[in-house]
Amino acid sequence: MSRTIHSLLAEPFHRFVSRDPQETREWGQQFARHLVAGDVVCLYGELGAGKTCLTQGIVAGLGVGARVPVRSPSFTFVREYRGRERILHWDLYRLRSSEEVEELGWRESFDGNAIVLIEWADRVSSLLPQRRWDITLTMISENIRHLEARRFQAAP
Ligand SMILES: Nc1ncnc2c1ncn2[C@@H]1O[C@H](COP(=O)(O)OP(=O)(O)OP(=O)(O)O)[C@@H](O)[C@H]1O
Ligand SMILES: [Mg+2]
Repeated sequence: MSRTIHSLLAEPFHRFVSRDPQETREWGQQFARHLVAGDVVCLYGELGAGKTCLTQGIVAGLGVGARVPVRSPSFTFVREYRGRERILHWDLYRLRSSEEVEELGWRESFDGNAIVLIEWADRVSSLLPQRRWDITLTMISENIRHLEARRFQAAP
């Protein structure tokens, strides 16, 4: 596990096959070690693919205690956690228009003071920063998920 995750530092592309929710959380926990304030992680995948499960791992990896519940902020769109960094967790599933997030502090999320995790990031693809991670989760069977992480740098 840690050897494959270390290649994340060098490689802009990474694949992982998870066999149960715990493996997805553990992968997220390892992945989180490489995140710093200002990083943005966009999560893609159908309902039940494991975006929140992965978010739970990342948030735990950022030092948020297990007693803090990490669940989708469906009605408020965004939740905040405090770990070794400030963490903003967006879930845009119910978003109707991009104006809705603009009013909720969307732009300020990217001021470099927080690690930003975004479920259903495809709802606002035109509003995403260029420099970010995209992680796509694909359901293969009841318990198998493919994770594909890709890092994008800002255009020169
Ligand atoms: N390998 C796996 N990784 C992650 N979740 C898994 C895995 N196998 C089974 N599951 C189950 O799939 C479900 C994933 O739910 P989760 O809420 O994380 O999905 P989601 O992508 O956030 O969905 P939504 O779009 O509704 O927010 C959970 O019930 C979890 O137990
Ligand atoms: Mg979710």
